[in-house]
Amino acid sequence: MKHKVILDTDPGIDDAMAIFFALAHPEIDLLGLTTVFGNVSVAQASINALTLLELAEAQLPVALGESWPMARDPVPFADFVHGIDGLGEQFLPPPHGQVINQSSAEFMIEQIMSQPGEINVVAVGPLSNLARALELEPRIAQHVKQVVLMGGSIEHRGNVSPVAEANIFADPHAADVVMQAAWPLTIVGLDVTYKVLLEPSLFEAIRQHNPRIGAMLQRAAEFYTDFYSQEHGVNGCYGHDVSALAYVVQPDLFTVIEGPVCVATEGIAAGQTIMKRVKGDAYFVKDWNTRPEHKACMQVNTKALIDLFYQTLTNDYWR
Ligand code: BDR
Ligand code: CA
Repeated sequence: MKHKVILDTDPGIDDAMAIFFALAHPEIDLLGLTTVFGNVSVAQASINALTLLELAEAQLPVALGESWPMARDPVPFADFVHGIDGLGEQFLPPPHGQVINQSSAEFMIEQIMSQPGEINVVAVGPLSNLARALELEPRIAQHVKQVVLMGGSIEHRGNVSPVAEANIFADPHAADVVMQAAWPLTIVGLDVTYKVLLEPSLFEAIRQHNPRIGAMLQRAAEFYTDFYSQEHGVNGCYGHDVSALAYVVQPDLFTVIEGPVCVATEGIAAGQTIMKRVKGDAYFVKDWNTRPEHKACMQVNTKALIDLFYQTLTNDYWR
């Protein structure tokens, strides 16, 4: 049976890779995209989501989501990472389609409640839509199949502060609400996504075998790679968001640990995802003790994941 997926996204160059992967993977039934502010404004994220679907000749609902963090001041958009337009400053023609008449949270709730136990929510932006959906309909926690999110880090250093990852830092209060819900949740964070380096030769090969989106994706990847080569001294860019979808279809590519998670919401550590990894009443500070256990990916089979990405971006879907 196919995995029914709602992709919650802030496109974003690596989000674009994730959207194309979700559309083309034969075992994913992509039900729709829900947008959120993050790499760009939510308005631009929605334009990009519609544009990417049209490039891929796919017709799917796109719902407009949260434009603002729950409680913190907004963080400036990372135009130096993804470009002013979010897709590597290609300034693609505007899409023909429009967002649906439901918010991201409403779309998630309707889908989850009408298909109990079947929906995978894969969140690859700030967690504001998921927090809003929980606030509107807490029973989604019992009815969702699982939540898989790209965000946070357990041991690896952060990418917006020494301890914080961008998606969590953008709305740490929302992330903490999401961590408190008793739903099956897996963190696909920087511990594994920094092991998924996508080199220029991969995008060249995709371009050669996928004329529909290959050239656009290659140009976007070049912009993204410029950032990572300057910041990290690597020849490539990281497949952060697509790694979360890879977990849905092939969880065996990852090793996971489990424990309750608190998110630091204020101060110098804001955005840090802190997992209690020892069982029982081990500490003087009790905040973790009442929280549900979640999973976090710590290791990944890098070669197999990159191969899966390449196969999916060049398969029969694109012919
Ligand atoms: C995450 O932040 C965004 O810039 C990317 O799209 C990804 O979701 C990586 O920290
Ligand atoms: Ca993203």
